[in-house]
Amino acid sequence: MRKAIIAGNWKMNNTASEGVALVNALAPLVKEATCDVAVCVPAIDIPAVSEALKGTNIALGAENVHFAEKGAYTGEISAAMLKEYGVKYVIIGHSERRQYFGETDETVNKRTLTALKAGLIPIVCVGETLEERETGKTEQVLYRQLKEGLAGVEDLTALVIAYEPVWAIGTGKTATAQQANETIGFIRKTLGELFCEKCAAKVRIQYGGSMNAGNCKELMAQEEIDGGLIGGASLKADAFAAIVNYDK
Ligand code: PGA
Repeated sequence: MRKAIIAGNWKMNNTASEGVALVNALAPLVKEATCDVAVCVPAIDIPAVSEALKGTNIALGAENVHFAEKGAYTGEISAAMLKEYGVKYVIIGHSERRQYFGETDETVNKRTLTALKAGLIPIVCVGETLEERETGKTEQVLYRQLKEGLAGVEDLTALVIAYEPVWAIGTGKTATAQQANETIGFIRKTLGELFCEKCAAKVRIQYGGSMNAGNCKELMAQEEIDGGLIGGASLKADAFAAIVNYDK
């Protein structure tokens, strides 16, 4: 059995003090959660939010990590810097980073290997654009993202995959539960081919893209869906808690 994981992705929202207020409101609402819970926050929020999460069942995540150990990479954040604040998860290859910041399958791969080496749990994002879906390229795109993004990964079960169809992110359009389940099934099958079937059966694969309190139950009821990566709905304590408590 795979343990579900619900993670918030704050993106470029919440100053450190706003973030602390949010997790303070969130913690009591999710303390009975049966799934793993995390918030992935802007790098500058990490020290304060890390402190605020002490004694809670909410883990801390970052939104990116650089692939070099250290050095002349102005503006970047290393895995060791994240680790020092107790960061557990790190989102890698989010479609916004692919779209706006030149992220490629190759850089996703380098970041993933670096994160794993440092003992962080990567949440590796994959997903097709609307045009790719409409022209029948979804499987081809996902195959490439997985093969190249995860090349050289030794223990597949040490990471989490997030399937986020780009057309469903922040648009209010969710993939239907059946669409999401089918596509995540394809991802699992592909991982079985690229790695091993046993590890593919164990790896947790989240759905992301306009997941909210209203649609989370149906999505989470799908066999292949092991959690959610939540953007907009993670910015309000009650909305995020309702997703975390999808089974209550
Ligand atoms: P959304 O974002 O829930 O606002 O669609 C999801 C994500 O981008 O991780």
